[in-house]
Amino acid sequence: MSFSAAWLGLREPYDLRARNAAVIDAVVAALAGRPSVTIVDLASGTGSTFRALRPRIKARQSWRLADNNLSLLARAPQSSLPDTHVTTMPIDLNHDLEAALDGPVDLVTTSALLDLVSDEWLQRLAVETAARRLPIYAALSYDGRIEMTPADAADKKIIAAVNKHQRTDKGFGPALGPGAAQKAVERFERVGYSVVQGPSDWVFAPTDREIQIEILSGWAAAAREMGDMPLPDVAGWLTRRRDLVTGERSSIRVGHVDFFARPTGTR
Ligand SMILES: C[S@@+](CC[C@H](N)C(=O)[O-])C[C@H]1O[C@@H](n2cnc3c(N)ncnc32)[C@H](O)[C@@H]1O
Repeated sequence: MSFSAAWLGLREPYDLRARNAAVIDAVVAALAGRPSVTIVDLASGTGSTFRALRPRIKARQSWRLADNNLSLLARAPQSSLPDTHVTTMPIDLNHDLEAALDGPVDLVTTSALLDLVSDEWLQRLAVETAARRLPIYAALSYDGRIEMTPADAADKKIIAAVNKHQRTDKGFGPALGPGAAQKAVERFERVGYSVVQGPSDWVFAPTDREIQIEILSGWAAAAREMGDMPLPDVAGWLTRRRDLVTGERSSIRVGHVDFFARPTGTR
């Protein structure tokens, strides 16, 4: 599955607004007092989590941005900011997760990744971070909640198809999709971590037309791919929804969860 820089750029301001402030506060508090920190961002894309977190951390920062998409890494931030060093790490995290975590690391971060991974990979992430006693900040895991206003008779079937599609293989085995956030919290608690979590829902107002159109088109494509609905029903739904967006009469909320998990009694 490939993600375009254009799509990541479109969603980043909404992600930034959605990130749970209490969870970020917990991350910042855990790093307080250190003169320098080394952070590995898994599946960094162009560096959304770097941009969200860097201004909040009052220490010299060394960031390693790990992703398998060279075109996204090429758009990652440079090390020209004060007290900040950035390197990119082209890596397939399905095969080489352990290599991304190796070396001196103080914090692991990720965003919009955990819903793409399998339970097996998540378990591996929990075990590998626990073995290194690393805290992890995981933002923006989709949790299966979608609310569209005004409602349409076909919404329920479309949402069911989207959630089914979310569980298909995205390169890490059968994806956790809407179950990712809850499962991740469970997995980290089971390896002895304490977890701070909170909602980080996308909230699109009627004026947020571009991202709504993009998302609705993606959902229609997912429903088409799943094949559980007649194509004319999917097309009709998309037409009605697009008309609402164009007329600035559509609002959408998409549920996400952020969490910060840290080994208890540590670091
Ligand atoms: C939804 S995007 C999120 C990107 C970024 N964290 C953000 O929030 O903008 C998912 C990211 O996972 C990366 N990815 C997917 N499969 C991967 C793999 N096997 N190894 C490394 N990165 C992968 C993609 O290239 C993409 O950058």
